[in-house]
Amino acid sequence: MSLTINIYYTGENGSARAFANEMIAKGIVDQVRNEKGNKRYEYFFPLNDPETVLLIDCWESQEALDFHHKSPMMEQIAELRNKYHLKMRVEQYTSISKENQDFETVIRNRMATRKFKNKKVEPEKLNRILEAGRLAPTAKNLQPQKIYVATSTEALEKIDKVSPCRYGASTVLIVCSDKKIAWTKDDYSTYEMDACIVATHMMLEATNVGIDNIWIEMFDKQELKKEFKLEDGVEPICLIPIGYKDDEYKGNPLHNVRKTLDETVKFI
Ligand SMILES: Cc1cc2nc3c(=O)[nH]c(=O)nc-3n(C[C@H](O)[C@H](O)[C@H](O)COP(=O)(O)O)c2cc1C
Repeated sequence: MSLTINIYYTGENGSARAFANEMIAKGIVDQVRNEKGNKRYEYFFPLNDPETVLLIDCWESQEALDFHHKSPMMEQIAELRNKYHLKMRVEQYTSISKENQDFETVIRNRMATRKFKNKKVEPEKLNRILEAGRLAPTAKNLQPQKIYVATSTEALEKIDKVSPCRYGASTVLIVCSDKKIAWTKDDYSTYEMDACIVATHMMLEATNVGIDNIWIEMFDKQELKKEFKLEDGVEPICLIPIGYKDDEYKGNPLHNVRKTLDETVKFI
């Protein structure tokens, strides 16, 4: 998270600019920049309004900003503001970073991505994604999942042979499940269900670490098994291309089309 505060100081006869210049000359600007949690502290002189000075002040947390408000420097700033008889207008914005969002934000930010940049996923991020899959629940904790991480040109070419849906991603997770390991009773097995939970964990963690993704069902499963020489009983469940969405990607048109809870939930 970060907080951006735009402060507009307005005066008369150039007093706002004199104020900013005195702040700079006294080194107050430098002191603030050195304060803990300060990301940006910069004065701008709008060309169309010579009586206004804009300060853009950016903090990494509310705590850092509160600390700044209590610092002795605030008195110096207030003194100067009074000396120049300035009016002050404040706008505050909160922005949420793409990484380590709260769970609710991850759920809302995840979106099917159908155009990726040619940029690799950093190994640390990939590791966090795979780890999230490792921690997923499975029936009887049998963990039948087998995840193949396709990054080589050869592997990606094989993906392209079996699916039209890589969308330019430089990494594709091939989520499989081993029927020989999964919980089975009579003719029923949870192999697919288990792998879907693993895949969902990975998608959400990908979003959490700022990596765009999509779930792909449209691929030739028999061909994929042949291309990657999967051992008997290992069934491909889905592909998850991951990476960074292309700047031109406008978003999935269906993303915000959701039924109401009334249509899908019934209290009984
Ligand atoms: C089980 C499943 C299979 C999907 N298969 C494909 C696919 O083969 N190709 C594709 O482009 N998108 C595929 N999607 C993406 C869905 O179209 C997308 O998730 C849906 O439109 C909702 O949009 P959102 O993910 O942006 O919220 C699939 C999604 C799921 C959950």
